[in-house]
Amino acid sequence: MHVQVMDHPLIQHKVTLMRKKETGSKDFRNLLEEITMLMGYEITRDLPLEDVEIETPVAKMMGKQISGKKLGIVPVLRAGLGMVQGMLNLIPTAKVGHIGLYRDPQTLEPVEYYCKLPDVEDRDFIIVDPMLATGGSASAAITLLKEKGIKNIKLMCLVAAPQGVQKVNADHPDVRIYVAALDDKLNDQGYIVPGLGDAGDRIFGTK
Ligand code: URA
Repeated sequence: MHVQVMDHPLIQHKVTLMRKKETGSKDFRNLLEEITMLMGYEITRDLPLEDVEIETPVAKMMGKQISGKKLGIVPVLRAGLGMVQGMLNLIPTAKVGHIGLYRDPQTLEPVEYYCKLPDVEDRDFIIVDPMLATGGSASAAITLLKEKGIKNIKLMCLVAAPQGVQKVNADHPDVRIYVAALDDKLNDQGYIVPGLGDAGDRIFGTK
């Protein structure tokens, strides 16, 4: 199973707060944004740098700056929206696409109902979705991006079940998966156990 579990103490602490059933929507959203930033810091470690000549108040020097690599953030609707602002705090120039998928009640396969992406040429993409459960929608979202010609894709989730990681590994061995926690299993209703419940409902205060 190929997955990078980002288990920094701050991340673990904040995930525990998010899991608690008594944590309300406002705190849940804030914690998700904070964890996204902590994870995003690590996920963007390979961004290319270039040299730039600058002048400090004391002397000229060669500094480093991000070389303008084009990035796209793609939340899977609806819960993925809760991870967008955290990424934009780190990379304000990133463009944001959206993918909406629903599960066909007959085939149980994910079906696209919405897809709007920024221009994809030479752009690397990070798909964000808090819960990697069966892996069906994450895998379908990756397939969609690949069909548009996108080559460099990362998947960033908060909590994953082993089944979800295995499904994405099998369908897309080239895509690196980053999670804050790898949980035990899925239950009969498709919820991650112990998980944190329905991430979309907890972000938006719905039921
Ligand atoms: N989606 C969620 O929001 N929660 C789960 O536990 C599984 C899928």
